[in-house]
This record gives sequence, structure tokens and C-alpha cells, in this order.
Amino acid sequence: AKRKSMGDNAINRPLDRARVDDSGRELTTNQGVPVADNQNSLKAGLRGPTLMEDFILREKITHFDHERIPERVVHARGSAAHGYFESYEDLRAITRAAPFGAKGKRTPVFVRFSTVAGERGSADTVRDVRGFATKFYTDEGNWDLVGNNIPVFFIQDAMKFPDLIHAVKPEPHNGMPQAASAHDTFWDFASLSPETAHMLLWHMSDRAIPRSYRMMQGFGVHTFRLVNAKGESVFCKFHWMPLAGTHSLVWDEAARLAGADPDYHRRDLWEAIDSGQFPEYELGLQIFSEEQAAQFPFDILDPTKIVPEEMVAVRAVGKMVLDRNPDNFFTETEQVAFCAAHVVPGIDFTNDPLLQGRLHSYIDTQITRLGGANFHEIPINTSLAQIHNNQRDGLHRQQINRGRVSYEPNSLAGGCPFQAGARGFVSVPEQSQGREVRGKPELFADHYAQARLFWISQSNTEQRHIVNAFRFELTRVQTPAIRERVLALLLNVDRALATAVAEGLGMSLPAPLPPATDRPPYEYPPSAALSLFAR
Ligand code: HEM
Repeated sequence: AKRKSMGDNAINRPLDRARVDDSGRELTTNQGVPVADNQNSLKAGLRGPTLMEDFILREKITHFDHERIPERVVHARGSAAHGYFESYEDLRAITRAAPFGAKGKRTPVFVRFSTVAGERGSADTVRDVRGFATKFYTDEGNWDLVGNNIPVFFIQDAMKFPDLIHAVKPEPHNGMPQAASAHDTFWDFASLSPETAHMLLWHMSDRAIPRSYRMMQGFGVHTFRLVNAKGESVFCKFHWMPLAGTHSLVWDEAARLAGADPDYHRRDLWEAIDSGQFPEYELGLQIFSEEQAAQFPFDILDPTKIVPEEMVAVRAVGKMVLDRNPDNFFTETEQVAFCAAHVVPGIDFTNDPLLQGRLHSYIDTQITRLGGANFHEIPINTSLAQIHNNQRDGLHRQQINRGRVSYEPNSLAGGCPFQAGARGFVSVPEQSQGREVRGKPELFADHYAQARLFWISQSNTEQRHIVNAFRFELTRVQTPAIRERVLALLLNVDRALATAVAEGLGMSLPAPLPPATDRPPYEYPPSAALSLFAR
């Protein structure tokens, strides 16, 4: 049954100011001048040259000439929806983040799902990681949870991100192939970076060909902190769990759909919302203390590791409902700007070296993608909380700040913006000492234990799909040495896996890759593989 969508949601206030209904109106120029003839340009005689004077033609063509903006450097292809998050409980004992301030509290959200590698017009059902980015318009500013549908990442340090993406994207000399992983450069990089082992297993699994954005999990990936009003903090991993369950396509369906209906996921999301079948996801938290973290056999700052559910249970704390399609793809889905650095009081970062690099990257790229320093004023990006500061000017400034003072301290503008003190965002005062070094903690070097944990968590059918995916991808790799290195990497994960992949390629098993550390890989008890967030 069609349910009522949230017409009165608070996010409509800033968006309403920008919404326009053109139907049945007289055509005008951008200066509001009524246009008499929209079919014919102004000429010197009916068969004469077009006149420079035709400001109506020139304005129309000039605007058209500038209609395209750069696509996102990654996650270019996406689909989005509006909705709300409702907290199941009052979590103020753990975090002062506004969305969790009371049982039943609702916060408007905008969510964009995406593929990573494909270009803006690429197919939806390719084998790839999926982005799951949520903007919470909270009472205390925007919080962006910019996650993926896989709980770990390929690399451990932001320093390697441009290399990873250069290896994943089409090769620079001929722009091929479009597929995220089926080429030499991707497997070359992956096999030379054994930290990719865990994510490679997820990437070759059915998780990388989701059935629908409505049936896909989301993960914050990094360890974050939750902070309460007393300044006490705990570590936290964020998980979105679809109430429709987690479901995948099988490879033959995915490959066929990529040709027959490249908009498959976009259409599915749009039509579900349009018909009142609103996608729903629970937000789950894994909360743990510094003392617990110190006991884990992995480093919680390492984004290639999960915290197994048997070590820390996932606690469902609220539900997100997506109940409204955007009015306009470009102004909302395309112009939305998520940023890993957008947190609100009650949420803080950790020293995860991948996260730290992300804190810089998003706003930086958006200055190019969306033009200048004022893209936070684009309606979809504006916070519901009012903005008061001394930032001024820049390309396309919208806000009209009054008065002569745009600095502080000052004595001239009684009542200018003042610091919020403890009411504002206060970073957790973490103790930090050390010599400047480039390097990694030793625990980061255990690349295989959790890859193996994922492998043994899979059913026989799912394992067969993983083997088939490795075989398919690697048969596209032209360079034998790269295929051999991937097999050597897989041998460190599981001999049966490596053997099955090698058989498919008609290759014999090479020697395993030398481990990155003398420490033996941690042996997880088989029970740790039972759930792994598979709902
Ligand atoms: C998009 C950088 C790792 C999730 C982007 C964009 C950049 C970027 C530049 C394009 C943003 C835009 O144009 O608006 C990086 C860097 C990373 C990194 C430098 C590592 C150092 C990750 C990780 C995740 C992630 C680990 C998941 C936890 C996303 C998502 C989007 C995105 C979901 C698309 C947001 C949207 O829908 O607009 N990233 N990223 N990224 N990234 Fe990352």
C-alpha cells in the first residue's frame, strides 16, 4: 500500500526556497525578460546572417555550453533519495550527537548510493564496491556518514589512494577497460599490495554484485569515537543493515543486466519509493572501550580489519526510511557534497591513517567539482542549523551578511558570532606523542587472518562464486606474472581457494608470497565466522 511520504520534513524548508514550478508560465530570460519567440534567432533579413545583438540566443546557447560539471573523481555514478532517521533510544549516556538525543527523534537524511570505478553513465550492476553515503541534517549541523557496502578497504594509508584509483580506473593510454577489476593494472597493484587480501575476498564475493540498493548493507569502515556531554568517549563502528535483508545477484544476471538495463539499480530505487515501498535500514553500532581495543588481535586503526561480531555485538539503535525521490537529479543527486570530515558534537575521528587522508580529500575535490568555496550554500548541502561566521565572498556567494565587521575579536559589532565553548564541537583530548615517522604498526601486517575468516564464513555455493569470480577476472589479465602473484597471495589465505583458482586458469601453484611480518597470522576461532554482518 502506498504510504504517505514526508512532505512536511524539515529539509523541505531550504529546498523549498529553491524549488520552481515552471508549468504554465511565460518563458523568460535569466534576467526575467519575457521571451517573444523561442524558435527563431534574430537575423538581418530572413535569409541573412544572425545578429550578434540577439542576447536571447546568446544567453540560451551560453548556458547550454556550460551545463556539464566534472564528474566525481570516484563514485561518479550514483542514485539518491531523501528520508529520515529515527532513533530507537535516548543514547545521551554514550553520545551527545543530536540524532540520538531522544527515543523516537527524527532527523532528515539524504542518501546517495554509488559504484566506485565507473563513469557517470556506466552500468549499475558491474562487479564493484558500492558507496553508501548518508547526510544527516541534524540540529547541530550536518553529519556525513560516508560509507561503503563492504566493511573493510583495500589499503591502510591515504598515501596509497591515488595509486589504487589509478590502477582501478581505465588504463590511461586507451581508456579501457571500463570494468573495475578485470584488467592488468588493478591486479598488478593488488598483488603487489598484500594488504588488499581481505577486501579482495569481499570484492570477488557476491557482496560486490548487490541485488538492489534496498538490499545492501553499509559500513562506516573506520573506527570512530562517540563522545557524551561529559567528554567521555568510546570507540564505534557504524553499520547499516537493510530490513529487506542482504541479497545479491548472481554473476550471469549481473552481466546480462549491465547490457539490458544499465539503470537497473537506479530504476529499482526510484520505482520502489515511487510506489510507497520505502527502503529501510537499521543503524547498528559496535561500541567498545580503549581497554577492549587493546586486547584485540588486530589494530582498530587498520581499515582492512573488521571487529568480528563475536568480539563486539552489533546494537541496533535506530532506523532509516527513504521515502521521497529527489525532484531534480542534477541539483540534488549530482550537486550533493559529502565529506568524511563532516561530524557533529558527539562524534569524533580516530587516527586511522586512511580516514585522516579522507578528512582532507572531499572538500578539496569539491572546490573543483562544484566551483569555489561556497558550495555549502547549494540547497541540498545547506545545514538546517543556521550558519554564522566571518567567512565572506568567494565565487557565487549567496548569503548576504550585513554590517561592517567580518573579523573577531572586535569591539565594533556588539553581538557578533561568539565561540560556543563546551557547547560546541570539542575534539577528544587524545594523548599523542612520538617522533615523526613514516611507517605502520606491526599488527597492520597481518594481512591474511581476516581474509581467511571471510573465506571460511562463506557457504559452499558462495565459495564457488568467489572462485569463479577470481577465475573470470584473472583470465582477463594478460601478464602471466601478475596472475601468478595473485595465486601466491591467495595461497596465504587458503590453499583450497588458491588451488581451485589455479585449476581454472590452467596454472600450477607458485610459492606463497612471503609474509609481511614474522608474527604468525592470528587464528580466529571458527565461531568468529558465523555471522560477519550477514543479515
Ligand atoms: C567519494 C576520496 C576512501 C567512500 C570520494 C571522492 C573523493 C574520495 C575525492 C569524490 C567526492 C566528490 O567529488 O564529492 C577518498 C580518499 C580515500 C577514500 C582520498 C582514502 C584515503 C573511501 C572509503 C570509503 C569511501 C574508505 C568508505 C568508507 C566514498 C563514497 C563516496 C566517495 C561513498 C561517494 C560520495 C557521494 O555519493 O557523493 N572519495 N575516498 N571513500 N568516497 Fe571516498
